[in-house]
Amino acid sequence: MKIFQLLSALLLLSTALMADNTINLRIINGTKVPQHSSQWEWILSLRQNGEHICGASLIAPQWAVTAAHCISEDNGVVPASVLSVMSGSYHVNNGRSVVPVTQVIRYPQYSEVDVDNDIALLRLASAVTAVAPISLANNATLQTGDPAFVAGWGNMSTTGVEFPNDLMEVDLKIIDFNECSRSYGAEGIFLTHNMFCAGYMDGSKDSCQGDSGGPLITPKSSGYELTGVVSFGGSEEQMCGAANFPGIYTKVANYVSWIESYTGVLQREISLENTLKTKGSYAVSGTFGWYDFENVPPAFDWVYQTQSGRIFQLQGKAPSEHDVFGWKEVYGIALQPQWKMISLGSDIDGDGTTKFDWVLVGVNTDAVYKLSGVRENGTFQYSDKLNVRYIIEESVIRFYE
Ligand code: ARG
Repeated sequence: MKIFQLLSALLLLSTALMADNTINLRIINGTKVPQHSSQWEWILSLRQNGEHICGASLIAPQWAVTAAHCISEDNGVVPASVLSVMSGSYHVNNGRSVVPVTQVIRYPQYSEVDVDNDIALLRLASAVTAVAPISLANNATLQTGDPAFVAGWGNMSTTGVEFPNDLMEVDLKIIDFNECSRSYGAEGIFLTHNMFCAGYMDGSKDSCQGDSGGPLITPKSSGYELTGVVSFGGSEEQMCGAANFPGIYTKVANYVSWIESYTGVLQREISLENTLKTKGSYAVSGTFGWYDFENVPPAFDWVYQTQSGRIFQLQGKAPSEHDVFGWKEVYGIALQPQWKMISLGSDIDGDGTTKFDWVLVGVNTDAVYKLSGVRENGTFQYSDKLNVRYIIEESVIRFYE
């Protein structure tokens, strides 16, 4: 396996030296991710001394997941001080939102020899709150033939070196594990159950060098979840898009509790949800940001930011500021004191349910969200960011296209 890593390092280094214009432009046989697509908005480019080395995925505002081999070097783990991630752009050379990495946590049982447990966590210097993190596939039962998607800034050539500037994506299928391990086994590479194979046995579509550490996602009831991390693949002769050697991905589901022991997502934030469900109300202690969310008598509105940087909007009933009857995690919103929540009365969308309808607008920005809350069961829904503009005039807010 060492030879693959050596080869991949050589390939990366030789970008400038080898220009092969005869090959097709592919992730391997993928397409460019459209600028407006939100499907991969949480994807990160992992940089070492400012240069893209691997992909990564934002899984909590201050945490990213990548492959262990991306942050490994001869004598251990690459120091956090030379690593950073770029977020919020599909263009790899866009250096605008680069956040330093402050801690690298490699899975303790990562094996360089057989690339088992190829997963690592990166703690970011500051929370990335402009995009929603991708959720982890908890109990993924991967069925042969199921659809999966991979994206990255990795090599697009099966025979040379051609790195894209724009993020590329490709659709894959889950490959039968036994068939895949037989094929690799014949070359002396033994797959473990911390891995799964995805792609095509004919090698037509694949991930490649430079995509490592990046996401493989699968659809769930709404949206996608992070099911795999790009790990390795290919034969001795052909590293990507090789027939009978589909890509190998780290199975994220096997690491969810390890990940959450660091990100703390479960302990703090899910227990809030459970308490709300069982008791109907919950006294939250912590730091509240008080923002100007009046206009919704007799409820209060708070924005609460947890230590891990997640933002929740909470609803409470006067006079007790601790009696929270509903909450909802807020994504895609950079918390600012000038956000305004404006009551539009009850049931403006006319769906007949007794509830509040609000609009959350970012003053001096074009961000508009519609919120609705059902007091009885304490649930709140945020719409997607609405594609409207607005003007605030005295007590009315007027929306236009
Ligand atoms: N190890 C590679 C990297 O460092 C990823 C290889 C994926 N290979 C494949 N044939 N799917 O970028």
